[in-house]
Amino acid sequence: QTLEQELAQIQKGRFAHFMIKEAFDQPESVVNTMRGRVNFNDYRVVLGGLRSQLANIRRSRRIIFSACGTSFHSCVAVKSIFAELTEMPISVELSSSFLDEQLPIFRDDVCIFVSQSGETKDTLLALEYCKERGALCVGVTNTVGSTISRETHCGVHINAGPEISVASTKAYSSQFIALTMIALQLSDDNMQKVARRTEIINGLYRLSDDLRKTLELEPQIKQVAEQLKTARNLIVIGRGYQSATCLEGALKIKEVTYIHAEGILAGELKHGPLALIEASMPIILIMPKDRHYSDSENALKQITARMGKPIVIASAEDTSPLFNDLQTLRVPQTVDALQPLVNIVPLQLLSYYLAVARGIDPDSPRNLAKSVTTA
Ligand code: G6P
Repeated sequence: QTLEQELAQIQKGRFAHFMIKEAFDQPESVVNTMRGRVNFNDYRVVLGGLRSQLANIRRSRRIIFSACGTSFHSCVAVKSIFAELTEMPISVELSSSFLDEQLPIFRDDVCIFVSQSGETKDTLLALEYCKERGALCVGVTNTVGSTISRETHCGVHINAGPEISVASTKAYSSQFIALTMIALQLSDDNMQKVARRTEIINGLYRLSDDLRKTLELEPQIKQVAEQLKTARNLIVIGRGYQSATCLEGALKIKEVTYIHAEGILAGELKHGPLALIEASMPIILIMPKDRHYSDSENALKQITARMGKPIVIASAEDTSPLFNDLQTLRVPQTVDALQPLVNIVPLQLLSYYLAVARGIDPDSPRNLAKSVTTA
């Protein structure tokens, strides 16, 4: 063993790989993201890195997010809560499309660049493009001193701690929380949002425990991985707040298992993907108890009517008879807008255990790099 390997083993502690260690870091890393920023006594959020620009952000015309990969999914995941709290037009763009499409950007725009490494070339190019056009540029990164954190006008460090596995896990949850904190702070002058903000901040308070309970699914997920390890395809279906969870869950599976996985938004099922459903198609359905529940019930019925047998990620309290003949992964229920943080965890663990069952090293999947510094 080289010194490097020995050091890596010490960092991994009781875990065989960084990916699973980092997934299990989440009950702690999410607390580190909130530390000193969310005050659970007076329900205030204060982000020091935004202080100087807060008034300008509030005065802006719209907010545009730009990111790649998992970081892009964290933006998709918070889009609706961001719009709800700030009442501003929000758009989320892949950094590469941003440049391809030469999107119009103006001086009264705020552009938020989200990047774990802070070095992703496509996101850096989008940042330069927006800066040239006079937009206010905000960085959300995990790496103090990174190019994106230096080149933006202000920003937030997500403080998730170093992420070594190529497939991102804890950076995703911390990005999600950092972005949610930005929306909470931007809306704290809006009295009509007090109840919603309080609900979310209470949810953030319980989050660490909810994640700890979700990680207890590990043995059950190992079994599911055994069952699915020879699959060639896998689809992950959900809607509303879980749209990003589907996309991110499918990306995790692709990255580390090489199974062709696709995230499908349940609202689009009847517009094409329903053709894929048959008895042998592995399906995961994400179905929390939120305002989209009855639509998800419909999706479930459409799937089972075509002999599909989805594995359902459901709320621990949900006693629906629709699940009678189905495998379920039961997760704690939290506030609708935070539920994606809980629901992504079983998919992170599943992709990890699928990789292991298929003999793949999840920490360094083929053809991928942790940080892509070329365009
Ligand atoms: C690479 C990594 C992904 C990551 C993406 C964005 O493709 O393999 O895991 O999500 O870059 O990286 P960033 O550092 O900008 O978040």
